Amino acid sequence: MPDNIVLIGFSGTGKSSVGRLLADRLDWPFIDTDDLIVERFGKAIGAVFRDQGEAAFRAAERDAVAIACAGARRVISLGGGAPVDPDNRARLGDRNLVVRLDALPETIFDRLTRGRSGEERPMLAGADPLARIRALLEARTEAYAIADLTVDTEGRTTDDVVGTILQWLETAPRHYSIEVI
Ligand code: S3P
Repeated sequence: MPDNIVLIGFSGTGKSSVGRLLADRLDWPFIDTDDLIVERFGKAIGAVFRDQGEAAFRAAERDAVAIACAGARRVISLGGGAPVDPDNRARLGDRNLVVRLDALPETIFDRLTRGRSGEERPMLAGADPLARIRALLEARTEAYAIADLTVDTEGRTTDDVVGTILQWLETAPRHYSIEVI
């Protein structure tokens, strides 16, 4: 078993719901780096971007990734932009299993605009969020490619995605590279 299982991927790919269920199945704690940042500043992510700015948010995110990865036997969900930072990628290192959740830009857009959480997504602010999703996905190709496993969530339930990860955990050798299931 790896130290931790770290979920990466764009907003709306299901990191939080998959992370919570996976943690439940493994009986491991679940940690969301965005939650650590919200706790630290005592305000929502959107307000941190507005009041402190993106650079301060990214610095806090780096701390949150370090804190989350310092333990073991945790399921950790990273904010969508976290893997862009080379320090964060290095932090994930060898001993954490990194799982990327993926979906088409249109699906991400649908999920985020249908979402009832009311959560603000500052990276998607602007006139054309779908174009922004496409551009960010493109820009993050390399960052997301650090994943040991990529799971396509298109048309699949949370349960199904968690099942795929668990099955893969049982059978995968430790020295794999990216695999799409
Ligand atoms: C961000 C994604 C968000 C949050 C912040 C920035 C990004 O997390 O960290 O709004 O850069 O893509 P989720 O991926 O959990 O939505």
